[in-house]
Amino acid sequence: MVTGGAGGGERGAAELLVTTAPDAPAALVARARVIAKRCGALFSPRRASVTRLLRDTGRVHAYIVGRERDELRGGDEILWVHPGLFYLKREAGATHPLLRALAPEGEPPPRAIVDATLGLAGDAIHVASALGARVIGCEASPVLASLLEEGLPRLAKGGRGWSEGAARVELRAGDALATLSGLEEGAVDAVYLDPMFEAPLAAQAGFDLLRAYAVHAPVDAALLAEAWRVAARRVVLKLPGMAAPPEGAPGPGWTRRVRGQAVDYAILER
Ligand SMILES: C[S@@+](CC[C@H](N)C(=O)[O-])C[C@H]1O[C@@H](n2cnc3c(N)ncnc32)[C@H](O)[C@@H]1O
Repeated sequence: MVTGGAGGGERGAAELLVTTAPDAPAALVARARVIAKRCGALFSPRRASVTRLLRDTGRVHAYIVGRERDELRGGDEILWVHPGLFYLKREAGATHPLLRALAPEGEPPPRAIVDATLGLAGDAIHVASALGARVIGCEASPVLASLLEEGLPRLAKGGRGWSEGAARVELRAGDALATLSGLEEGAVDAVYLDPMFEAPLAAQAGFDLLRAYAVHAPVDAALLAEAWRVAARRVVLKLPGMAAPPEGAPGPGWTRRVRGQAVDYAILER
C-alpha cells in the first residue's frame, strides 16, 4: 500500500485531477478515490473526455486509473511505468557504468540494494535484472508512487525480458530517509541515489510531467549519512558528467568515480 503526504513535486495537488477510464468498474473507481486522497487531488467520475474534465475543473494534469494501466496526462505528454531503455541497457552487460559502480567485477554479486530515488524504476529494474539482486525502491512523490504501485506488478507479469527484474523491486512509498532509518547497519550491499538534476539533461517523452511531480530536494548530509550506515559495501550517487559530488561525505569520502556518457557515478566505498 502506498502512503505519503500530498503533492510531492514542484507542482501542487491543486493542478491534479484523478479519474478513471470510461465506464470503469467499481474497483477502479475505488482505487482512483484512494489515489486522489493520497495525493491531495480532486477526484472526478469519468463523465466526459479527459480534456473536458480538465477544462471544467480548472486542473492541468489528469491521473487516469485505466483497465490496462495507470497513466498521468498533461498537455501532449503521457507518463506511465514502462521498461524504457531496458534492452539497450542489457546489451551493455556488465560494462554498463551503473553496474560497474554498484558491483565491480570480482566481487560476490550483491543480494540487496536500496534505490533511494526510484523514479519510474528504469534503473532499479535494470539493476535487479542484471545483478539478480532484490531492490528496495523508495519514491517520495505520492503521484509517482501510485504509478509504480500499478506498474511494477504489471511489468513483473508476462515473462518479458524485464519481468524478473521488475518482480524483485519492492516499492516503499515515502521519503528514503524513513526507509533507510528503519534498516539495520549494513543491511544491504549498496545504496543508490539518483536525485533530480537542477539542469535537466534529456527531454524524453513524459519528462516534463515527471519533473512536475518528482521531489527535487538535493541529497543532503542526513540522507548520505543514513545511506552510508545501511550500505555494507558502497553508496553510489549519480551526477551530471564532470560535476563535483557534495562536500562533507561520510566515511572515507568519495573514493571512486565511474564515467558514463552524459552522467557520472560518484562512489563512497568501504
Ligand atoms: C531522477 S529521478 C530517478 C530516476 C530513476 N533512477 C529511474 O531510473 O527512473 C529521482 C526520483 O527520486 C525521487 N526522490 C527524490 N528525493 C527523494 C527522497 N528523499 N526519497 C524518495 N524519493 C525521492 C523523485 O521524486 C524522483 O522521482
